[in-house]
Amino acid sequence: MTSTRIVALGHHQPERVLTNDDLAAMVDTSDAWIRQRTGIATRRIARDDESVADMATAAAGKALAAAGLAPADIDLVVVATSSAIDRSPSTAARVAARLGAAAPASYDLNNACAGFTTALAAADHSLRAGAARHALVIGAEKMSDLTDWTDRSTCVLLGDGAGAAVLSAVADGSTGPGGLQGVGPVVWGSDPTRADAVRLTGAWQPRFAQDGQAVFRWATSTLAPIAEEACRRAGVAVADLGGIVTHQANLRIIESVVRQLGATEAVVAKDVVDSGNTSAASVPLAFSKLVERGDLTPGAPVLLLGFGGGLSWAGQVVSCP
Ligand code: ACO
Repeated sequence: MTSTRIVALGHHQPERVLTNDDLAAMVDTSDAWIRQRTGIATRRIARDDESVADMATAAAGKALAAAGLAPADIDLVVVATSSAIDRSPSTAARVAARLGAAAPASYDLNNACAGFTTALAAADHSLRAGAARHALVIGAEKMSDLTDWTDRSTCVLLGDGAGAAVLSAVADGSTGPGGLQGVGPVVWGSDPTRADAVRLTGAWQPRFAQDGQAVFRWATSTLAPIAEEACRRAGVAVADLGGIVTHQANLRIIESVVRQLGATEAVVAKDVVDSGNTSAASVPLAFSKLVERGDLTPGAPVLLLGFGGGLSWAGQVVSCP
């Protein structure tokens, strides 16, 4: 039986920083309102000619270099995105071609803000089944393409970026200092009766829309038990978590979930403050930034939890690369 382990992470953000004051010059809002309701201070916005595939490739290239692997070693590429404009070729195929991966399986996966953690589970299952040895799992979004820049209730929330993980198959028992067997079992599901609470709808120019209060109530009332179940299935006590990286939608949601969990020792990702809501990119982006800054201990158990459109969720405990 094989286990899997995240061996390296990488991320990419566009250069342009859009501040709350910039937005206040565009719509009827203020820095104070945005900070108080969401925690967001800035977000990154891609250039017109900077695509989801560009950002995904940049993040994946960094993860690959950090893993010490060659493109030819990668035999599976999965990109979680809901904002890639082209239906085909997939963003994953474009990333594989640009990196020079030899002949990997490649596909895109759309599960909105739960996309990365869903893709990580799918890749984990593929590697455990022996269908691949080294996978690139990427979350990449250009939400600015799907934003109504005249709607103050949504345009202040979103940002662009990408994060990537290299996932490798390892023999059981060789997963390093944390004790955890690499990537823990996924806890995933959805509430399809509430699917329309977050929408990216429209034939040629889809626009992001949501029932913000309903999603807020749902997130703050359902996610903590899901996180606890992910810890239980991984055999990790909540108190022993070294890090918590949830989807970065709203600082108040993050703080509420962490408070309910009682995880006082864990380093908590709060990248929403700098990056806004980057949908499927937010978990790997925030995770990669924490690792790059040296805020997490290699081998420490880290809870990942994606949630959002669907309404869907997927979470697992992983050992920190
Ligand atoms: N600036 C100033 N006022 C604003 C703004 C703004 N940017 N946006 C809305 N308002 C006003 C509203 O018009 C309303 O005014 P009114 O009382 O006169 O009608 C008032 O502020 C309150 O609006 P609410 O929508 O009730 O504000 P709320 O406190 O709920 O905050 C928010 C909105 C931030 C969207 C919050 O509901 C939220 O974070 N929800 C969760 C979103 C989420 O987690 N989504 C995850 C999935 S996203 C994905 O999958 C891509």
